[in-house]
Amino acid sequence: MAKKKRIALVTGANKGIGFEVARDLARKGFHVFLGARNSEAGEAAVQKLNKEGEKENYGKGHSGVAVTFLKIDVSKPDSIRRAAEEFSRSTDRLDVLVNNAGILLDDDKDVLTATPEIFETTLRTNTVGALLVSQAFVPFLKKSDAPRIVNVSSGGGQLADGADGWAPAYCISKTALNGVTSQLAAALPKFAINSVCPGWVRTDMGGANATRSVAEGASGIVWLVSDAPQSETGKFWRDRKVIPW
Ligand SMILES: NC(=O)c1ccc[n+]([C@@H]2O[C@H](COP(=O)([O-])OP(=O)(O)OC[C@H]3O[C@@H](n4cnc5c(N)ncnc54)[C@H](OP(=O)(O)O)[C@@H]3O)[C@@H](O)[C@H]2O)c1
Repeated sequence: MAKKKRIALVTGANKGIGFEVARDLARKGFHVFLGARNSEAGEAAVQKLNKEGEKENYGKGHSGVAVTFLKIDVSKPDSIRRAAEEFSRSTDRLDVLVNNAGILLDDDKDVLTATPEIFETTLRTNTVGALLVSQAFVPFLKKSDAPRIVNVSSGGGQLADGADGWAPAYCISKTALNGVTSQLAAALPKFAINSVCPGWVRTDMGGANATRSVAEGASGIVWLVSDAPQSETGKFWRDRKVIPW
């Protein structure tokens, strides 16, 4: 019997690390739902990947394509609900959710000057967004033989070595996202649920001076999605190794 095609949803995948993760997963034979809040940018990214897929023979999922667009703004509960409804019209199973969408708004603000708006907007997207998307898609993940959630976090959220003053709202949102990972892992013992730091990556967020390419940044995420043992859960990773919270 033909093996079931694994299905992944990657949020914030119209560009940057998320786009590269979507591409790598499509190459690995996943049917990828490419999540984006902006329809135009999302559709363009999907078209690009499906064109590549035709050439490279990615293999096809539902409706004859390797990659399907899903409109989802992770900062808006209504958008998340509508995305889950839309998803359910294609399939009732999800194997992997990658909570990748993220924002960095701090500019040069330190912890004493960051505004309520910066904190609230950042936490709503980077932390609460990942939790609400997880809640909405858990029913589909429960249909998988090996369900996984990968939360794209940051070394900036690590508490182990103390803070260095950079981007406090962003760093606190990632510390809290790691808390979400730990809580979900406890609540869903049959799932593999992990946080991962991609390193410092050349994207709109990471900037041109970052040390890693998007391919290098995506690599550790894709490994957790696809190749890490299913028994590994409730941990924080970088470069396929566990790192301290
Ligand atoms: N780059 C780094 O060095 C680095 C390091 C550590 C961790 N990370 C993490 O890696 C992830 C990806 O970052 P990146 O470097 O690829 O950044 P990026 O190029 O700025 O891409 C961020 C993506 O998230 C999307 N997004 C933002 N808010 C959203 C929302 N409310 N709903 C849906 N999508 C939303 C963006 O969509 P739009 O195009 O519509 O804005 C974009 O697709 C983030 O979680 C980031 O914190 C990055």
